[in-house]
Amino acid sequence: MGETTARLESQFAQAGGFRHAIAITNCTAALHLAMAAAGVGPGDEVIVPTLTFVATVNAVKYVGATPVFCDSAGERDLNIDLDRVEALVTPRTKAVVAVHYAGFPVDMDRLTRFACSRGLTVIEDCAHALFSSVGGRTCGAWGLMGCFSFFGNKNMTCGEGGMITTQSDEIAARLRIMRSHGMTTMTLDRFKGRATSYDVVEHGYNYRMEDLRSSVALAQLRRLPGFLERRALVRERYLAGLDGSSILVPDFGFARMAREGDSVGHHIMPVILPVGVDRAAVMARLKERGVQTSIHYPCVHRFSAFAGANAAGLERTESLAARELTLPMYPTMREDQVRLVCRELREAIAA
Ligand SMILES: Cc1ncc(COP(=O)(O)O)c(C=O)c1O
Repeated sequence: MGETTARLESQFAQAGGFRHAIAITNCTAALHLAMAAAGVGPGDEVIVPTLTFVATVNAVKYVGATPVFCDSAGERDLNIDLDRVEALVTPRTKAVVAVHYAGFPVDMDRLTRFACSRGLTVIEDCAHALFSSVGGRTCGAWGLMGCFSFFGNKNMTCGEGGMITTQSDEIAARLRIMRSHGMTTMTLDRFKGRATSYDVVEHGYNYRMEDLRSSVALAQLRRLPGFLERRALVRERYLAGLDGSSILVPDFGFARMAREGDSVGHHIMPVILPVGVDRAAVMARLKERGVQTSIHYPCVHRFSAFAGANAAGLERTESLAARELTLPMYPTMREDQVRLVCRELREAIAA
């Protein structure tokens, strides 16, 4: 972790308008550190969407806290239901995790106002949101911390990698120490002769990102605006190709919000199949025709490892998750490829 990583951090911070950006080995580690730095621990409850990647929830378990699962807002808005969040708060609630699903921002204005009034910490899982913004402020700059992923399928990648952003000097200093074993000086400081020794001031981790991956991430960061433009175009083409069909394309109420300074860094292309359609059969038929699809996500509260967690009041997500299908989306996807996917999907549903 040397000067290239430092350059990645400063350019990422500049690109997103963050006060601090701290490179981390991956987003799962970033979420873990965020929980720890926010002081979440045993006895605390953390409200999480059940429609997310399991890493969001595992991070809550790593610090010994209890995840409290929350429903999605609706079939047009798969993000966490803020009415339900408010109802789920108890005296033990310490934090809420906002996952910006598919890159569509949670209404952070409302969530942070509510959290502030109740003394709750907001942590943003921005794995899908590279970069999205609400009211001109980038996702990852609203909560106390924002956690980003550079995994191979993300909007920018270096294979595995991640970033934590924060506007707090105090949290940033703590994260930097916790990222590297709780040590007060870094290898680079000692190499440069700026320090010869160190203290260990808390129980930290090795969640560092090395310069090899940082150099790839830097190159990807430069290309990110172009990638995002191409992804937005792919989505536009899907909207045209699926128009008038029985397939629902969630818009997350974004058109309704449509405030100045709101933007979506499109990441995946989720659609909701009509009720009664056999999703497995649709996926199998599309696969035969050379179209890879996936599912985002099975509800986390349904996994065996989370047996015993709250499972009531999640019926909306359960029924939506069973109908969700993720279509191919990547920057180099051509118009004829989008048309082919739309045609094959319509035929698969009809069959
Ligand atoms: C919503 C969400 N959170 C967290 C993660 C974990 O990211 P990473 O693979 O960088 O640990 C992912 C990655 O797929 C994700 O999609």
